[in-house]
Amino acid sequence: MGQMEDDLRVDGAVVRGPEIGIVVDGLPARAFEGESVAAALLAGGRRALRTTARRGEPRGMYCGIGVCFDCVMTVDGRPNVRTCQTPVRAGMRIESQRGEGTWSTRLDRCVRRTHLFSRGGF
Ligand code: FES
Repeated sequence: MGQMEDDLRVDGAVVRGPEIGIVVDGLPARAFEGESVAAALLAGGRRALRTTARRGEPRGMYCGIGVCFDCVMTVDGRPNVRTCQTPVRAGMRIESQRGEGTWSTRLDRCVRRTHLFSRGGF
């Protein structure tokens, strides 16, 4: 497949895995096996991955090595996934995250409740 107009990937000598389908905020997106979620989204021209809890300011990939947490998104219903450390997988559903995100599975809601009650001083 040729390079798409809005695709920022380097073309030519780069060897990539096969193209796979992912869904980002309900829309199909292009990704290749071996890419991180953040890299795939950045290559597609997307810079903002989440918004902050207090001011709703956009954040995107910053460190790229799993340290800053600015790249967190909701992946397959699980919030706070560091997308720079998460490889894409066919059929993956990725959503922009607002603040701390929303837990969508029953088990996750239970874990979150337990976590909230155990937080001291926050
Ligand atoms: S960009 Fe810093 S943790 Fe992902």
